[in-house]
Amino acid sequence: MKPVNDTFLRALKREQTDYTPLWLMRQAGRYLPEYNAVRTRKGSFMALAQDPEAACEVTLQPVERFGLDAAILFSDILTVPDAMGLGLSFVPGKGPVFEHPVQTEEAAAKLFVPDPEERLRYVTDAVRTIRRALDNRVPLIGFSGSPFTLACYMVEGGSSKDFATIKKMMYARPDLLHRILEVNARAVTEYLNAQVRAGAQALQIFDTWGGALADGCFEEFSLRYMKRILEGLIKENEGKRVPVILFTKGGGAWLEAIAESGCDCVGVDWTVNLAQARARTRDAVSLQGNLDPMVLFAGEEAIRREARRVLDSFGETGTGGHVFNLGHGISQHTDPEAVAILADEVHAYSRRYHQRKA
Ligand code: CP3
Repeated sequence: MKPVNDTFLRALKREQTDYTPLWLMRQAGRYLPEYNAVRTRKGSFMALAQDPEAACEVTLQPVERFGLDAAILFSDILTVPDAMGLGLSFVPGKGPVFEHPVQTEEAAAKLFVPDPEERLRYVTDAVRTIRRALDNRVPLIGFSGSPFTLACYMVEGGSSKDFATIKKMMYARPDLLHRILEVNARAVTEYLNAQVRAGAQALQIFDTWGGALADGCFEEFSLRYMKRILEGLIKENEGKRVPVILFTKGGGAWLEAIAESGCDCVGVDWTVNLAQARARTRDAVSLQGNLDPMVLFAGEEAIRREARRVLDSFGETGTGGHVFNLGHGISQHTDPEAVAILADEVHAYSRRYHQRKA
């Protein structure tokens, strides 16, 4: 019998597990030499992401190398605005750039919801290919950006330090931004449902920039649209619940509201204390996080100590659920050996917090 590891899905649903499952945001990427080899062979990031066989190959790399408890689809959050015709490219040294940023009434009016099985077929094909290759060894996570995080790139035209353009739009023309967010929410709902139909067994919504919003604005311009997505998602596939993780980086101030959004799990960054987060969300959701990715640069002793500190802060699992992760994506300069040490520590040390009650 081939081993089936469903520890990750069980922890998301706050069921008993033998240890704390672990995966890492951006686990497939440039810190892995085997990733760089495939990327060089394909010529560019987008060429790699658009080839289902190659995307499958790099998705499996970190899972196999480190024995992680989940695979995450290899793709990018910016595939959705690209499918809306905004013209995505990745410029070396600059990051993502859109040829047609959405900054005017006309541009916002032209936005449409792309049919995922047509314009994003390479993503659903990758999901199907990966599920076949995984053969149930570990679950596959599908993902998308949040409507607000996608809008940040769409309006700014690329990465930004201060979000000056989108914030100006938010305060001066909230109706325009709401129009963009409304289209994004529908596009993301259809995109995620297509990933579920293709075989994604859990979903994560990356709200990477929600934490840049002022109090009040977060609820109105980010959380509200994530709630709409949650209302429209397929709840069950293959006879199993499809749990949803909501990750707002810098969202610690709004944990109660995020936990009440209808998600199954709240992802938290390293500024949050997990014991306090459990108390504030009353164990009604599971929690994912939250090691500072920079710990991976500090050597074996520090990695083991800080991993234990995160596990200790969550404590006895009891009625809760904990998925170990970083508080944000892994740095491209990380030594893969540091990840191996982290996986070893989390898998071994966490067992004490999962003692079965007689
Ligand atoms: O987690 C995984 O392993 C799955 C793959 C994944 C990628 N991007 C691959 C990628 C996921 C989940 C993402 C999400 C993503 N993309 C986010 C949200 C998560 C977060 O980290 O906050 C954001 C904001 C993006 C946008 C994006 N894509 C940026 C800013 C960049 C870096 C551009 C650069 O040149 O540095 C990307 C490109 C990208 N996406 C890479 C990878 C592995 C690197 C591209 C390469 O190989 O050159």
